[in-house]
Amino acid sequence: MKRGTTVYLYELAWILPSIALPVGMLAALVVTAFGAGIHLPTHEGRVVPARVSETAPFDRPGIVQVAPDRYEVSMVAAIWSFTPNEIRVPAGSTVTFTVTSKDVVHGMFIRGANINLMLLPGQIARATGKFERPGEYPFVCHEYCGIAHHTMWGRVIVEPRS
Ligand code: CUA
Repeated sequence: MKRGTTVYLYELAWILPSIALPVGMLAALVVTAFGAGIHLPTHEGRVVPARVSETAPFDRPGIVQVAPDRYEVSMVAAIWSFTPNEIRVPAGSTVTFTVTSKDVVHGMFIRGANINLMLLPGQIARATGKFERPGEYPFVCHEYCGIAHHTMWGRVIVEPRS
């Protein structure tokens, strides 16, 4: 092989991966966003943090059935708990969570449900998950929020259909 050809091959060995990597990442982004439904939680509105407990739907935190197999949960995060911190639904339910924070930045991650929210004071976060299999789906605060951050958790209990 001539020397010029070797240099050309080395250049190609660098150039090709530097094109393939960003193209691959872009493809992964498209697949996860549109195929797997993984995306940033949207901000569904605003609320005055000091008035959370007087503002609907957070004045009545809890679970409401809105249709067969469909539930709406309004939830308040505050140092260091979720209200409510236990939710019971039958298997196969679709649950929409509307959550906000009363004080500092919290998070909410529900294991096994593709729900991962950042809870900013003043912002309303919303996400919907489907709970097919019976069992316990713990959720935790995953934004450090002070000394008892690790105690801030709850669970969704999915009950088998009889
Ligand atoms: Cu709330 Cu960490």
